[in-house]
Amino acid sequence: MTLLRVLRYDPERDEEPRFAKYEVVARKGLTVLDALLNIKDEVDGSLAVRYSCKSAICGSCAMTVNDQNRLACKTQLSTLGRTVRVEPLAGYSIVKDLVVDMRPFWEQMRRILPYFITKTPDPEKERLQTPEQRRVIDEATWCIFCGACSSSCPVMWTDERYVGPAAFVKAWRFVGDSRDEGAEERLDAINSEFGLWRCHTIFRCVDSCPKSINPTVAIESLRKGLIRRAFWRPFAKKEAPLVRVK
Ligand code: F3S
Repeated sequence: MTLLRVLRYDPERDEEPRFAKYEVVARKGLTVLDALLNIKDEVDGSLAVRYSCKSAICGSCAMTVNDQNRLACKTQLSTLGRTVRVEPLAGYSIVKDLVVDMRPFWEQMRRILPYFITKTPDPEKERLQTPEQRRVIDEATWCIFCGACSSSCPVMWTDERYVGPAAFVKAWRFVGDSRDEGAEERLDAINSEFGLWRCHTIFRCVDSCPKSINPTVAIESLRKGLIRRAFWRPFAKKEAPLVRVK
């Protein structure tokens, strides 16, 4: 038997959060999300959990399990010990139980203009990219927007205006892309007291990514871009990659 301690909190009814205890048989193949859904189906239908694909693709079920941010659908219960503590992502306000308000996360994502910007006339066919150019941004394209990295960052806990590691990774995904022409605007958006210079290289974001992305590589690449731009305007993206991503 595994003891599941799940944080329960309904801001409309409860004065403060509390841990509810459930006993679960951690049979092989049972994920943390499966266990939570079993509790919801068979014990207490009021338990609130956000999920969608159950395949580690949509990023909806990120939560803190035994002090580490993980995707509940990808985490095998049997690997976690006899007592498992499940909490909502830190740094965001709780909507109910394990569901948090991700609006600040999406707000920061919008700031870095997460879409292709092109200024030169459209080519006759597609904008081509060599395998070497694609490799520069490969890792940054794995992000599934789960928020696990941003939620693990102590800087974000103190100020939700901080852009955060997830948005930095997304910014690098475009700034480092040989086809994109919006580096100037994106670098402007993160060159602020709540942007790149607020990162204190605490590295918690690295340990928490369920897709094994290293956000600090993106952060260092963008910082080098800003420094380079300060000395050699305009930012010359056609040069060799600033930092190798893998
Ligand atoms: Fe935060 Fe990661 Fe920087 S944990 S301080 S964004 S290295």
